[in-house]
Amino acid sequence: MLSNLKPQAPDKILMLIEEFKADTRQGKIDLGVGVYKNPEGVTPVMRAVKAAEQKIWQDQTTKAYTALSGEAEYRNAMTRMVLGDAPADRLASLASVGGTGAIRQALELARLANPGVTVHVSDPTWPNHLSILKFMGLPFTEYRYFDAETRGVDFEAMKADISKAAKGDLVLLHGCCHNPTGANLSADQWDEIAAILEKSGAIPFIDLAYQGFGDGLEQDAAATRMIAQRLPEVLIAASCSKNFGIYRERTGILLALTENSAARDMTQGSMAFLNRQTFSFPPDHGARIVSTILTDDALAADWRAELEDVRKGMLELREQLASELRNLSGSDRFDFIAHHRGMFSRLGATPEQVQKLKTDAAIYMVGDSRLNIAGLNRDTVPVLARAIVEAGI
Ligand code: LMR
Repeated sequence: MLSNLKPQAPDKILMLIEEFKADTRQGKIDLGVGVYKNPEGVTPVMRAVKAAEQKIWQDQTTKAYTALSGEAEYRNAMTRMVLGDAPADRLASLASVGGTGAIRQALELARLANPGVTVHVSDPTWPNHLSILKFMGLPFTEYRYFDAETRGVDFEAMKADISKAAKGDLVLLHGCCHNPTGANLSADQWDEIAAILEKSGAIPFIDLAYQGFGDGLEQDAAATRMIAQRLPEVLIAASCSKNFGIYRERTGILLALTENSAARDMTQGSMAFLNRQTFSFPPDHGARIVSTILTDDALAADWRAELEDVRKGMLELREQLASELRNLSGSDRFDFIAHHRGMFSRLGATPEQVQKLKTDAAIYMVGDSRLNIAGLNRDTVPVLARAIVEAGI
């Protein structure tokens, strides 16, 4: 049986990690996978996470199973973080294995509710969105999103395409810090998207993997909150990997806003069922770190402060890179880097130019020219800027 297996298409982002590791050149720069690194190139354990782990170690008396949907304390704390004051009587929630697990469970839930569901995704989107959709055999279609000229959002095209989503379709939106482009909607544009969805009855499905990495913890949730207030049904997949820096703990949550409390109960039951069918009980350690932090004022304040430092550090690198490129290229055509938000920017380089950066300068970024700003520091920004100009980008 197993000899029948065929090779699967490799994940381009994960492949890059291996390629980078194998490169023996001094001074190589990794701008590939979306993992935060401090100026020393380390992905640190955040202070509040260490403190929470110590507290858990001291206080925890059992490792018996948690609830199928995850601990209520974690789900409530995350609901508050993502949605602020959520309508509790309409909200179902599910602890998941990372943000990716929440995406998968959301799609499984949508398929359970509507076997013919079509999913609308931005062009481009996180490659794993497409990979999961293909693997599940769910029909999907791409809506235009990125304007290759301005490196901003092609909003007119996006609206035109999203307007085609039918009642009951899912429209996958990046709540903030669009991956891979870094180009995001303004508050007014979000309002227009909400109005289109209100009219069509298509359901927003928000991927919120970078809350706190863009304009701030509250600001990055503003669009999601507005959508949740206006639309009767909303799915949200949130990740704690980046903002808590607990990547390997695989901590995420699926939030489902339903039309009424009866639908909420049915949805909650279906979501718990999906966990049971997939891996049974969700992992607890990361979720417990998060709830320990969010329910302790001092820990929460320290975590927020460190997250703000991380966010501001990335913004400074954006400003520095845009300014170096302005000087070296004698034009403002790279200013979009300072306007983008989150970990990523799509540079707009050709695959050949991306390859040239790798071959000539040992600079690694995803083939579509997505670069991870957090892979830089003050010293490597000028190196990258020079290489970009030399590669003719
Ligand atoms: C990324 O886009 O690089 C991250 O979300 C990590 C991943 O799993 O792809």
